[in-house]
Amino acid sequence: MTAPGHPATGADFVVVANRLPVDKKVRPDGSVVWKRSPGGLVTALTPTLETRSGAWVGWSGSASQDGSPEEKPDVEGIDIHPVPLSAAEVEDYYEGFSNATLWPLFHDLLVKPEYRHDWWEAYVRVNRRFAETAASAAAPNAMVWVQDYQLLLVPAMLRETRPDLRIGFFLHIPFPPTELFSQLPWRTDLLEGLLGADLLGFHLPGGAENFLTLARRLLGTRTSNGPITAREDFGAVEYDGRTVKVGSFPISIDSADVAAQATAAADRAVTIRAELGDPEVLLLGVDRLDYTKGIDVRLASLERLFASGRLDPAKTVMVQLASPSRERVDSYIDMRNRIEQMVGHLNGKYGTVARPPIRYLLQPVARDELLAYFRAADVMLVTPMRDGMNLVAKEYLAARADLGGALVLSEFTGAAAELGEAYLLNPYDDRDVDDAIEAAVTDPAEARRERMRILHDQVMTNDVDLWATSFLDTLAADA
Ligand code: ADP
Ligand code: G6P
Repeated sequence: MTAPGHPATGADFVVVANRLPVDKKVRPDGSVVWKRSPGGLVTALTPTLETRSGAWVGWSGSASQDGSPEEKPDVEGIDIHPVPLSAAEVEDYYEGFSNATLWPLFHDLLVKPEYRHDWWEAYVRVNRRFAETAASAAAPNAMVWVQDYQLLLVPAMLRETRPDLRIGFFLHIPFPPTELFSQLPWRTDLLEGLLGADLLGFHLPGGAENFLTLARRLLGTRTSNGPITAREDFGAVEYDGRTVKVGSFPISIDSADVAAQATAAADRAVTIRAELGDPEVLLLGVDRLDYTKGIDVRLASLERLFASGRLDPAKTVMVQLASPSRERVDSYIDMRNRIEQMVGHLNGKYGTVARPPIRYLLQPVARDELLAYFRAADVMLVTPMRDGMNLVAKEYLAARADLGGALVLSEFTGAAAELGEAYLLNPYDDRDVDDAIEAAVTDPAEARRERMRILHDQVMTNDVDLWATSFLDTLAADA
């Protein structure tokens, strides 16, 4: 069946995400450069779209000037459809509703969400624009895959005008329990927006189960009761005369590509260690600068480990590569100040002029350089208070085809569900954090290598292609 008014041509596969794979940067002289966009969503989707040719609907990362046409970046193998946002929409839809309402609410209220009706109105308006652009990009009966919390209303908006489409939705962040989600004044609208999809994907079974409970309690729908397991057992919601499938699909990375590139960067890894003064222990953190990531948790632990003599600051270097993120949102400004104050404190107290123990960058690092750091690090510190998955942990493991290194991983990441051989820790428990970091540094080499062997294999087998294929095959199955 096809709806009237949609184009006869168009793509058979369309991804709709808040971000395009590349981010527009305007230089001081006014010239434009496009750079890889930040975050795990783009890391996972770019290889997925490159192998299945299709269209990508998204925002360039900059506010549009009124009246000037939207520029279109050239991305090999992907048909790009930019969605313009005005400066006011960037504030209200992106910084406001998406990142000062939904993001903190879905991440365990680590900061207090703001509930503002003017932000909600912008969110509805911008979601409609994404849905319209997707509708005009999609061929008859195409598959459209909507991504993440910025676009929760798009599935239903798309179904209204294009009932011929097969619509999937994937949430890249945690999905909260009823008690938290119910704080939203627009909770019913958001659930109904999602239920426009044919298939709803979450990282973990727990998120999918939270969704079923909410649908039952808030909308009174009939839902399945059986357990949900990753990629195998699905749930269902009966809604509006249709069955919406609900499942768990843990996201991953292009593992073979990361492993190959990291192996190619082995020489650079040796140089990095030399540049850092050949420390006995090299610790590494790599994150968007976000309050969910627990960068402060690892710095606070280092302070305790240095103060108690459990780690020697003269023999230890920690590199923290932080990528600037959502820089005008207050909670991000606060966290940045806190981290920079802690770095200054640690270096002032435990460093020498020649050798500060913490090296901190606030700038995105080039991909090959990042992989060289992974290869150089003895211990990777991944300590979020809450994270949907955390692809950095998986990138580190894929990069260690040499079976060197060790992963310290918060239990509050989606990745922990699959990576039980990591040095797991509860980031809310100081002692547990200290013990996990110390064990990762001091355990015998053979024990660390055995853990890494299992973890590296896990990530090489469960890659992003398995994620995309399992989601898209499930979406296509009942068409
Ligand atoms: P999130 O999606 O919340 O940002 P993930 O860990 O899932 O977290 O994904 C982050 C992605 O961004 C990874 O691909 C990682 O390599 C990349 N990244 C994070 N920090 C940096 C940085 N400082 N420089 C370059 N890339 C980074
Ligand atoms: C997380 C979110 C993505 C987002 C990314 C970067 O991965 O799940 O949707 O794109 O962070 O954040 P930003 O706000 O810069 O797009």
